[in-house]
Amino acid sequence: MATETPSTTGDGNIESTGSGREPPGPDGLPVIGNTFALMRDVFSFYERLAQEYDGDVARYRAAGDTAYLLTNPDYVAQVLVTDAPRFVKGEMQQRQIGSAFGEGMLLAEYDDWRDQRTTAQPAFYRDRIEAYAPVAVSHAEAMMTEWDDAETIKVHDAMTELTLSVLAQALFGIDVRGRQSPVRAAATAARKRFDTSRLGAYLPEWLPTRVNRQYKHSLSSFRAFIDELIAERRAADELDEDLLSLLVGATDAGGMDDNTLRDNMATFLFAGHETTALALTYTWFLLGHHPDIQERLHAELDAVLDDSPPTAADLPKLDYTEQVVTEAMRLYPPVWTTFREPTVDIEIGGYTIPEGTVVSLPQWIVHRDERWYDDPLEFRPERWGGDDDRPEYAYYPFGGGPRHCIGMRFARMEARLVVATLAQEFTIESLTDAPLDLTASANTLPAEPVEIGLFRR
Ligand code: HEM
Repeated sequence: MATETPSTTGDGNIESTGSGREPPGPDGLPVIGNTFALMRDVFSFYERLAQEYDGDVARYRAAGDTAYLLTNPDYVAQVLVTDAPRFVKGEMQQRQIGSAFGEGMLLAEYDDWRDQRTTAQPAFYRDRIEAYAPVAVSHAEAMMTEWDDAETIKVHDAMTELTLSVLAQALFGIDVRGRQSPVRAAATAARKRFDTSRLGAYLPEWLPTRVNRQYKHSLSSFRAFIDELIAERRAADELDEDLLSLLVGATDAGGMDDNTLRDNMATFLFAGHETTALALTYTWFLLGHHPDIQERLHAELDAVLDDSPPTAADLPKLDYTEQVVTEAMRLYPPVWTTFREPTVDIEIGGYTIPEGTVVSLPQWIVHRDERWYDDPLEFRPERWGGDDDRPEYAYYPFGGGPRHCIGMRFARMEARLVVATLAQEFTIESLTDAPLDLTASANTLPAEPVEIGLFRR
């Protein structure tokens, strides 16, 4: 799906292609536009927009920005891949998450972005990724030893703790078990700050609201924690071959400044654990509501692994495990939409999308579109079992084009290994009702704790 081709993102000489037709959409109230409808429930608002207007392109207004919702996979591909040089991440994202991620890879543009991506890339080569497999399995095993038979756990908390410890060990060579609090506190404050159902998500960060104060305070503790990690690594006799060493090495060689190093540590610590934790949370929730699917998963694990812990070499044989994780990320994509802004007027689907406006490419809508999926609300891992004739961008949990997720292979490997390790040992029962109540923050979050019961097999 995704390519590793270097991008020539935006060189300022790119021509407009717009024809002048404006996409249809609700007008909303003067000034605030559709902000209240979005706040009530952005998922339903998007669903209504996609149904009531053109079906593939619709216009709306939120918090002073004009935005366009694109729900046709071909248009998603146009923005992310074909026309990638005509788009940037944009001002809205800078305004929202800029203070957390600054000049790090997620938000950087043009040459800055390319240099950072090139520096970090070796940490994500296939053989490096496979070397992280034992970390994922051993941390999952250690977590399981804390669980009793017939215990109830809050699965999102457990998976967050697990994916953060795996990420920190694999990419930064540090054991954060027992010292996760600055990262967890910053993540919790960020979830509140960007929760689209709260007015605060649409207010500027400099306003001294309680949520903003908490957010700033937790960001400064988080940054102090990152400085500690960098200092520890600089003090070490030898540099490992991990991501932290690549970043520190590039900084010491003058290719990256200290602030960008810090911003990238923040970017990877956040981007690298919260999304994977969500993918696993939704996978357990769905498995816990489908004993038949769980039975088939157990049968595959028993046949392939024969009671041994899973390894990277087993993954190509664990087809059904892969289908389960793929399907969970279809139904509950951890990233509910991807935003871009065109740097010139651009023609998409016969409409003009003006320069500087916001374009939203919602995984949430496209992954649940019945044009590409039969019974789209059903959890059906088998749908990934054979060839399919869906458009390529009917499924894009990791984005696409030059800015696709650099951690995609890492995340997919970790998710399958964790599912295999835990499902070998436990049968899951979901104690939280379906369908799940969700909140759209920077990621797709469960609105309430998701509880599962664990029964030793
Ligand atoms: C299931 C887990 C994950 C999901 C669903 C996910 C999703 C995404 C998506 C949709 C994007 C593209 C954003 C955009 O185009 O605006 C992205 C970018 C990114 N992700 Fe992930 N991600 C996951 C795991 C990870 C992991 C494990 C890491 C790091 C180890 C990571 C690091 C990043 C970074 C640094 C970027 C920015 C890449 C760039 O702009 O060049 N992600 N991710």
